[in-house]
Amino acid sequence: MAGNGVFAEIYDGEAEVYRYYAEGEWRKSSSAKSVSIINPTTRKTHFKVQACTQEEVNKVMDAAKVAQKAWARTPLWKRAELLHKAAAILKDHKAPIAHCLVKEIAKPAKDALTEVVRSGDLVSYTAEEGVRILGEGKLLVSDSFPGNERSKYCLSSKIPLGVVLAIPPFNYPVNLAVSKIAPALIAGNALVLKPPTQGAVAALHMIHCFHLAGFPKGLISCVTGKGSEIGDFLTMHPGVNCISFTGGDTGIAISKKAGMIPLQMELGGKDACIVLEDADLDLVAANIVKGGFSYSGQRCTAVKVVLIMDSVADEVVEKVKSKMGKLTVGPPEDDCDITPVVTESSANFIEGLVMDAKEKGATFCQEYRREGNLIWPLLLDHVRPDMRIAWEEPFGPVLPIIRIHSVEEGIHHCNASNFGLQGCVFTSDINKAIMISDAMETGTVQINSAPARGPDHFPFQGLKDSGIGSQGITNSINMMVKVKSTVINLPAPSYTMG
Ligand code: G3H
Repeated sequence: MAGNGVFAEIYDGEAEVYRYYAEGEWRKSSSAKSVSIINPTTRKTHFKVQACTQEEVNKVMDAAKVAQKAWARTPLWKRAELLHKAAAILKDHKAPIAHCLVKEIAKPAKDALTEVVRSGDLVSYTAEEGVRILGEGKLLVSDSFPGNERSKYCLSSKIPLGVVLAIPPFNYPVNLAVSKIAPALIAGNALVLKPPTQGAVAALHMIHCFHLAGFPKGLISCVTGKGSEIGDFLTMHPGVNCISFTGGDTGIAISKKAGMIPLQMELGGKDACIVLEDADLDLVAANIVKGGFSYSGQRCTAVKVVLIMDSVADEVVEKVKSKMGKLTVGPPEDDCDITPVVTESSANFIEGLVMDAKEKGATFCQEYRREGNLIWPLLLDHVRPDMRIAWEEPFGPVLPIIRIHSVEEGIHHCNASNFGLQGCVFTSDINKAIMISDAMETGTVQINSAPARGPDHFPFQGLKDSGIGSQGITNSINMMVKVKSTVINLPAPSYTMG
């Protein structure tokens, strides 16, 4: 179980606070303060983590610098071997980690297990991909550029950046942490993790799996605490050479304050689902429900606005309503489809969007119902662009439908958003689908399926306020290295013999 067995050393049972991880050890913060993690279901404190200090962050950074130098000299196959070991340990201990996800972020029990298994697979795949792509470099010869003879050979290879700071979000505190940790490590970097408060204990358990695998001291660290105390301090720390962040608007602030370092940012979306008259309407309804309501809509890739041709809207709305009626609502322990949203303030924000839509005349397909952080799934029909829900992301189980009269109208709404993460289009005409995909200003367009990040080796990126750079295993590895060239200058041009 959480904090027991192999995980006993990460927990200070006397103080009932989880320790943080630095220099290969589980430690108590000198602050003697803790941060409470509120269970979204009970709305009571469930876990506590250390409130680390800036001085502790400094120490972690110093240790990371030293450990990284030795790690960069560790053969690639050995780095891969350790990652495979960590992946296996992670999967072996999926139950206690999933338990934390259920209690900290109210993730339905089965989805919580899936997140851990998916994370183990991601780590293994990254190890394999790293061995393939980091083992290769390039040879360029000078005489392909005008004015040059064949007198210079350029050898380029990939070298680590140094210390990577990883900041994952609450909704995937394990998976979106390892999607940063594994590429950083295989590429020869050190890694400092700042987990989200909700999800921090699951992340600490995951980090312990890396510890058990035997990674060198100081190479991996995990600091917990208040964003107000260590947030800016971490992101503006001179020891950080790269930031990989997933979350909300905070990412925009980080990108303005960060120094001259590579940034990988994924900052949410308002993924549009465009439905044409010729679409398979049963497939549409199934994907609207899955895309809009899985994990209670708390996914950056959730369907967040449906733009549907008016002529088929009534039929689709009926089909969606009927499927929504089968969604189970309740605690994550019972593996319900709809579980409490992560915090009371999130629930209040969602409610604000719902009330705004109500005042402005949206049609409620179900009665609005909320108990604590639990919000029953709600479909809002006849939403208009003057309603907040047409543009803002609820990050909850509330989905707006906007009826459109032309494809252009749908594309226009999608492109008028500040976000540009993913989108999807449903049609049986592949030619139309490609044209619409090309016109949508989003990082990915799914044809005939709801948006999704996975499989985890696919490129994943957002345009506009949805992010900077591209993720996915291969892209993340490439983002966490720098190209280094060595040029051999010959005394005279060299041409092949004969
Ligand atoms: O919440 C943001 C995640 O990147 C979405 O991942 O599509 O696998 O749910 P997912």
